[in-house]
Amino acid sequence: MNKIRYERRRYTAGPTPIEKLERLSQVLGGPTISIKRDDQLGLTVGGNKTRKLEYLVADALRQGADTLITCGAVQSNHCRLTLAAAVREGLKCQLVLTEPVDGYNPQANGNHLLFHLLGVEKIEVIPAGGDTQPVMEKLAQELADQGRKAYLIPVGGSNEVGSLGYMACAEEIEQQSWESGTVYDYVVTASGSAGTQAGLLAGFLARQSDIKVIGVNVSRDRAAQEAKVLDLFASTAEMIGLRGEIRPESVRCDDRFVGPGYAIPTEEMIEAVKLVAQTEGILLDPVYSGKAMAGLIGMIREGRFANENHVLFLHTGGSPALYTVPQLFIPERS
Ligand SMILES: Cc1ncc(COP(=O)(O)O)c(C=O)c1O
Repeated sequence: MNKIRYERRRYTAGPTPIEKLERLSQVLGGPTISIKRDDQLGLTVGGNKTRKLEYLVADALRQGADTLITCGAVQSNHCRLTLAAAVREGLKCQLVLTEPVDGYNPQANGNHLLFHLLGVEKIEVIPAGGDTQPVMEKLAQELADQGRKAYLIPVGGSNEVGSLGYMACAEEIEQQSWESGTVYDYVVTASGSAGTQAGLLAGFLARQSDIKVIGVNVSRDRAAQEAKVLDLFASTAEMIGLRGEIRPESVRCDDRFVGPGYAIPTEEMIEAVKLVAQTEGILLDPVYSGKAMAGLIGMIREGRFANENHVLFLHTGGSPALYTVPQLFIPERS
């Protein structure tokens, strides 16, 4: 592999911890489970986007941009963290948000408060299912007309540059595994815009690691998600000159825990979020890590792992979204 020459900003001091989930492992009675606490990454209630932004923002600064423009759902962790990274770097930030199907109610949404508290320059809300790209391009053109320079970041920060953040994470996991003398057989992660899973696959391949990565889908069906991960893996590998092939069967995505659709709660997610809170005191989120943990629990119950396996669950963050759905977790008569 060519030496990676990509610049990186740093938003977290040191590696995120890996903790053994002894009580959860005992309750589930299967493999040993540990958790990689990427919910403790830096910026404003950090999560997996923080790692991608370290490379994306470095690229924006290198190109002389003064404004970051990105897009996502109303409750997007990626939008909140892009704005936080912009604040940290003294850049402006504009956001294009897609309205939920039941309409955008700013009062019912914690991110709206944070967007304004962090000083967002502009928010454009477009109808559910709308195409954000032309709106981002229009905003960039308006800035160019004023002599400013925008840097566009795709949904979820998932392009080749963003994926470098999870290549770096794979390296961090390998280093922690080496230092602690612990061999992880699997990493289980939520898989959405695919940068996390694609970056991990590229990073483990670069280290010639045997760790298998299982993505738990949060929106698409299996074939579509596996194709998305494989595409992004391939373009990232090409960008950095990564040698070595990945077998298509190494890209594993499980779509059985999505439920009725993206961000729509499921019984399994509610059970998973409660179980991890009540056995380990760790907060997951209802859209990503809650469904990913529901996937891990489901796979353990169906005997997917051997008892001597060690599974590393990647906590990708997102817990602020919990506070938008208290009704899912508070018993009716409390
Ligand atoms: C908290 C959280 N976890 C997981 C994901 C999914 O990661 P990726 O989009 O890289 O597949 C996201 C993406 O928005 C996220 O916000």
